Amino acid sequence: MSYIENYRNSLARPEQFWGDAADQLYWSKRWDKVLDDSNAPFYEWFAGGEINTCYNALDRHCESGRGEQAALIYDSPVTGQVITYSYDELLDLVARFAGVLLQHGVALGDRVIIYMPMIPEAVISMLACARIGAIHSVVFGGFAAKELATRIIDADPKLVVSASCGIEGSRVIPYLPLLEEALAIAGATEMPRILVSRPQLPLDVLQPYVISWDQAMESAQAFGCVAVPATDPLYILYTSGTTGEPKGVVRPNGGHAVALKWSMDHIYDVQPGDVYWAASDIGWVVGHSYIVYAPLLHGCTSILYEGKPVGTPDASAFWRVIEQHRVKCLFTAPTAFRAIRREDPDGALLRQHDISSLDTLFLAGERCDPDTLHWAEKQLEVPVIDHWWQTESGWAMAANPLGIEPLPVKAGSPTVAVPGYDIRVLDDMGNEVAPGESGNIVVRLPLPPGTLPTLWGNQQRYFDTYLARFENCYLTGDAGVVDAEGYVWVMSRIDDVINVAGHRLSTGALEEALATNPDVAECAVIGVEDKLKGELPFGFVVLNAGVQVDEVGLKKDLVQIVRSQVGPIATPRDILVVARLPKTRSGKILRGTMRKIAEGQEYVMPATIEDPAVLQEIAEALET
Ligand code: COA
Ligand code: AMP
Repeated sequence: MSYIENYRNSLARPEQFWGDAADQLYWSKRWDKVLDDSNAPFYEWFAGGEINTCYNALDRHCESGRGEQAALIYDSPVTGQVITYSYDELLDLVARFAGVLLQHGVALGDRVIIYMPMIPEAVISMLACARIGAIHSVVFGGFAAKELATRIIDADPKLVVSASCGIEGSRVIPYLPLLEEALAIAGATEMPRILVSRPQLPLDVLQPYVISWDQAMESAQAFGCVAVPATDPLYILYTSGTTGEPKGVVRPNGGHAVALKWSMDHIYDVQPGDVYWAASDIGWVVGHSYIVYAPLLHGCTSILYEGKPVGTPDASAFWRVIEQHRVKCLFTAPTAFRAIRREDPDGALLRQHDISSLDTLFLAGERCDPDTLHWAEKQLEVPVIDHWWQTESGWAMAANPLGIEPLPVKAGSPTVAVPGYDIRVLDDMGNEVAPGESGNIVVRLPLPPGTLPTLWGNQQRYFDTYLARFENCYLTGDAGVVDAEGYVWVMSRIDDVINVAGHRLSTGALEEALATNPDVAECAVIGVEDKLKGELPFGFVVLNAGVQVDEVGLKKDLVQIVRSQVGPIATPRDILVVARLPKTRSGKILRGTMRKIAEGQEYVMPATIEDPAVLQEIAEALET
């Protein structure tokens, strides 16, 4: 069946389409209804059904003869380790850690925060939660204590799983000071924490409320799978919105398993037994979906890579991994390829490796610029596929569906709407624009399985953020075009979210951090273009009247504040002290214009500006 037939079927007969896809999984109880629309615009997939995601990711394969196949390969150039876990071995560890969680009082529906580096115990913790129907919330290791605390407060977990340290290149990053500070901020110092002691920073003395992973696992009883309502959350993953307050994206068990399993065949064109590598981090949605769940649900071998594209040890790191583990499909962010290209522009390091196992490269997380796409195509000599998605969707909204019908690539476009996603472009009044014209990219409801049905504990915020703006549509937050051939072009965000090296950050959170400096009266953070990371934060601060400071020292302090309150991934490119911020007469900061000035681009004087002279002042401040 062609892509277009597949796509039309998915929209015309969604219950049949996704019901067939769901039959590829094991259900403890079959659903009553594939799509429950009785409470529209809040939809639920597979209502009445019961499923266990961990059973489908592990036990099912062990029972059907795949037990000895590699499920997970932990490849860690930063520690010099490569460890392979077969499906049988991974199941044994997960079942025992599920027993540990139960022993410490975690039950169906309880939350568990996982704040961990890229080590196998992180994957084991996630799957163990799934096994007992607990809801995990993984927090990216590069976030600072305050960000971690916000997530702890919102998720209200039963316990935390963490590790003694992360390793960034050759640096050991102690995790416990951050964790302890976060627990103190959250008023949760008595919360039990299960800690993995890593040899790079061993934990010798156990503090109160601390449980050693190793000791707990020694005496653990393996535990089986609990039947979980399909509409119950598998996890909560926090993501940045317009305000500093992160949004807890909820992912239900049933729809998630169905969509991810379907995507492996139809989008990525991989089969059970193939080696699949998402070079991302389990703290991000790509890591959740394509390091942990999708490859395992599909019976593939997944790679857990604790390293960087460059510097661990050099720009050949990816090629070494592909060669050593015979990777068939690689998924990463364009920024990783820009980093590799910067160090090995002619691909000399690449040619020292046999990457003949590689069939495809998938890119996501930010728009892939045509230059990077063409470079990757030329070097790898395989199809390079940009695809578009977000934490909220959990899987691709636009892609080149290689497993259905490979479509011609148009550089700069993530190709076409994925079956299930009725993508439209609307003007600000909610009218659909003509093909080729730009506007707000929305998806007509219902969203397909696997997407968010709500925000954790805040249905109203879910409605206000995503559904209120245009009737019967989900607002993606992205702006762009659908051309006459149905190709989607994602051009920019319509809100204050920026994308730094594939990491999604809220400028609001950065502004909140800068505003904590007592000398700062007002501030604004924008994203400015960066050749390597796509965008970098750039801050503007207005000081309190009469304050005299050493600007160099102040900037250093402000950068440090951002690093310690949001995290090192948000380090601003620069912070500028200005006399005033440019605003509209209604008081809205003119970020778009500031961005143009900071990037040295031409700009049109906004008609609504309160005082045009401010822009000149900013341009002068940037020059000095
Ligand atoms: N734990 C602790 N600190 C972390 C961290 C983690 N998990 N991840 C990043 N950091 C720190 C880094 O050590 C660095 O700290 P520093 O400023 O003290 O040196 C800072 O955060 C910025 O890190 P990063 O964004 O990784 O930049 P970099 O310059 O070290 O590396 C790239 C640049 C392009 C190689 C890197 O950003 C990269 O690999 N990006 C791909 C991201 C990705 O896969 N995204 C997933 C979307 S699919
Ligand atoms: P995140 O939720 O962190 O995955 O970030 C999602 C956002 O990143 C999207 O809303 C887009 O703004 C951007 N994004 C992700 N993938 C792409 C892509 N392939 N092309 C353009 N923008 C992308």
